[in-house]
Amino acid sequence: MNETPRIYLDNAATTPMDPAVVEKMVEVMKFHFGNPSSTHGHGRKVKNIIEESRSKIAALLHCKPSEIFFTSGGTEADNLAIRGSVASLGIETIISSPLEHHAVLHTVEELAHQGKVTLKMVNILDDGHVDVNHLKQLLSESGKCLVTLMHANNEIGNMLDIEAVGSLVHQFNGIFHCDTVQTMGHYEFDLSKNYVDFICGAGHKFNGPKGVGFIYINKSNHISPLITGGAQEREMRGGTENVYGIVGLATALELSYGEINSKKAKLLELKKHMMHRLKTEFQNVEFNGDAEGDSLYTVLSVSFPPTETGNLLLFNLDLAGISCSGGSACSSGAVGGSHVIKTIRPNTNRTTVRFSFGKFNSIEDVDTTIDKLKTWYN
Ligand SMILES: Cc1ncc(COP(=O)(O)O)c(C=O)c1O
Repeated sequence: MNETPRIYLDNAATTPMDPAVVEKMVEVMKFHFGNPSSTHGHGRKVKNIIEESRSKIAALLHCKPSEIFFTSGGTEADNLAIRGSVASLGIETIISSPLEHHAVLHTVEELAHQGKVTLKMVNILDDGHVDVNHLKQLLSESGKCLVTLMHANNEIGNMLDIEAVGSLVHQFNGIFHCDTVQTMGHYEFDLSKNYVDFICGAGHKFNGPKGVGFIYINKSNHISPLITGGAQEREMRGGTENVYGIVGLATALELSYGEINSKKAKLLELKKHMMHRLKTEFQNVEFNGDAEGDSLYTVLSVSFPPTETGNLLLFNLDLAGISCSGGSACSSGAVGGSHVIKTIRPNTNRTTVRFSFGKFNSIEDVDTTIDKLKTWYN
């Protein structure tokens, strides 16, 4: 008996691999096994594959290949930028926000707890955006600063004006790290404009493999590594490289850039369609963050009114074959709830569901999900 295929609306958590990426990775797995650090032919071939991947990513982002370093993903890249800056760039103060991903938040909190830096949190406005006037004030009051603010929030989708914030930070001689894990592959960067010191990407967020990512380190910053060992990654990250992952990462980013405009148009249509149906066919449904304003087209965070079964909404969606994600302050699957929702909606008893779209979704996925929700809500 054929099972009805499940609907996947959790693309901010991870995305399915593009078959073309798998194909490329398998080809390298089958035919190229040398250690890239070996100087013989087998090693040199694989080293070339890594360097071609690095050059591909650098060309897409308009930076130099020497500014790209491969990592195990977004978390390691965030850690490297933050810990490396504190260790090597004379950082006295870190300015961040309560809405950052834990890869950033737990790292800056630990550094502050150890007494290595003073941590200052920028205020968040009612719509979930960073209060840029407050950021300016914090910058003017602080010594040598690292500002770490995310480009798009993974839970509510709010976007930061990365170029404007970067220019502001640089006016105060600060260092700017922007966690771009949710926007890499979905947004075009021109790093030749030098508005940011560190950005990063994780392959699995743009139809590439898991466990591999990269960091861009602007050439003017010389930081110490997080993982010491061999001389791989120009002594910035010891350990034999994840060659297949790196090839998959570069292929996925290249594919994403090739289809970025059509993907954006399609996913924006899905998001707008879902918002329209939620607004017109449901009562008292709200959106978290600035969903109708400066918001990433892949993410829609919906706040449902409290009902007797509200806490079971995610569970019921899952049983109905729809995978999406929670994030309410108290009722998500995650122990303790979402720090993001708690910050923007303190004391709420509403239920949050994050729907996040990817290139393999269709309008039918949205319609089926809405129709299912209606059976519980109206
Ligand atoms: C904004 C953001 N930063 C960092 C990460 C961590 O990335 P990874 O899981 O590749 O370590 C994620 C993953 O969800 C994310 O959404």
